[in-house]
Amino acid sequence: MENPVTSCFPDPGGERALRGLYLDTILPDASAGGGPFIYANYVSSLDGRISVPDAAGRQCVPGNIANPRDWRLLQELAGHADLLLSSGRYLRELDAGTDQDILPIGSAEDFADIRAFRARHGLKPQPDVAVLSGSLDFAVPERLLDQGRRVVAITGDSAPEARLQAHERAGIEVMPLPGALRPGARPLANALASLGHARIYAISGPYVLHTLMAADLLDALFLTTVHRIIGGYPFSSICEGELLASPGDFRLTSLYHDPSGPDGCSQTFARYERARDPDSVLAGNATGGQ
Ligand SMILES: NC(=O)c1ccc[n+]([C@@H]2O[C@H](COP(=O)([O-])OP(=O)(O)OC[C@H]3O[C@@H](n4cnc5c(N)ncnc54)[C@H](OP(=O)(O)O)[C@@H]3O)[C@@H](O)[C@H]2O)c1
Repeated sequence: MENPVTSCFPDPGGERALRGLYLDTILPDASAGGGPFIYANYVSSLDGRISVPDAAGRQCVPGNIANPRDWRLLQELAGHADLLLSSGRYLRELDAGTDQDILPIGSAEDFADIRAFRARHGLKPQPDVAVLSGSLDFAVPERLLDQGRRVVAITGDSAPEARLQAHERAGIEVMPLPGALRPGARPLANALASLGHARIYAISGPYVLHTLMAADLLDALFLTTVHRIIGGYPFSSICEGELLASPGDFRLTSLYHDPSGPDGCSQTFARYERARDPDSVLAGNATGGQ
C-alpha cells in the first residue's frame, strides 16, 4: 500500500498516498435530483470485462484484475455508506462460499482507520443492507442480523409467498413492490428513498446497475481500470440489459494513475459524476475531506 498514486485530473502531476484516496473524497448525503446519493464501483479490464466464468462456469471477478489496492479503495467507499445495495445473486454466492465476504467493513487492523472514520461521521459500525431480488431465493447470513444491521429485500411482482414469509420470520424486511424491478421503474426510486438512508453504495453487478441507470438513480461511478486485456466469454461489462431509453451521461471528476496494480501492471482510478447538476458533488452534509 506504500507506493503512491499520481493525479492525472483535475490537478495533474501531484503524488499522494493510496490510503485515504476515497476516504478523503467528498460524498454528498443526497442526490442532486432528491432522494439518497447512490454510487457504485467496479474493477474492469482494459477490454471492459468485469467478470469471467470460473472453472465451474460461474461468473466471477477475473482473478487477473482483482487486486489489494482496488480492494482497499472498495473498503474506503463502503466506509461512507449508510446502506449497501446487493443482489439475490450475491447473497446466493455468499451462502455457497464462492464469493468474498464484502458486506461488512473489514475487521482487520488495516481497516481500523475506516472504522474510526465511520465513528467520527456518526455512521453505524456496519452499513445496513438492501437486496434486490425477483426470486427471493437466497439466505441472509445470520451474522449480518447479529451485527444489528437492518436487512431489507426489495422484490417485484412475482415473489413466491412462502419465501417472503420465510424471510420475514428470519428478521428481514421484505418490500414487495409491483413493477419495482422493471427498467425505469419509479417504485424502486421511491422504495430506496423511503428507507431513509443518505448514501447508498451499490456493490451489485451489471443487471442491478442497468436497473439503476434505467430509473436514473446512479449519481457517481468509481471505475478502476486495470491496464490489461483479458478476453473471455460471455462478455460482461458494468451495465448489461436492453439499450437504455436515454443514455446516462457522466463527467470525469478525478483520475489517478497507479503503477502498482496486479503483477506490476498499471491501473487508473476514475470517479465520474452523473451530469445532471455540476454542483452535485458538493451538495448537502457530505462525508469525506479532512
Ligand atoms: N468487477 C467488478 O467490480 C464486479 C462488481 C460486481 C459484480 N461483479 C460480477 O458480476 C457478475 C455478474 O453479476 P450478476 O449477473 O449476478 O449481476 P447483478 O446485477 O449483481 O445481480 C443480478 C441479480 O439481481 C437481482 N435483480 C434484481 N432486480 C433485477 C433486475 N431488474 N434485473 C435483473 N436482476 C435483478 C436478481 O436476483 P434474483 O435472481 O434473486 O431474482 C439477479 O440474480 C458476478 O460474477 C460478479 O462477481 C463484478
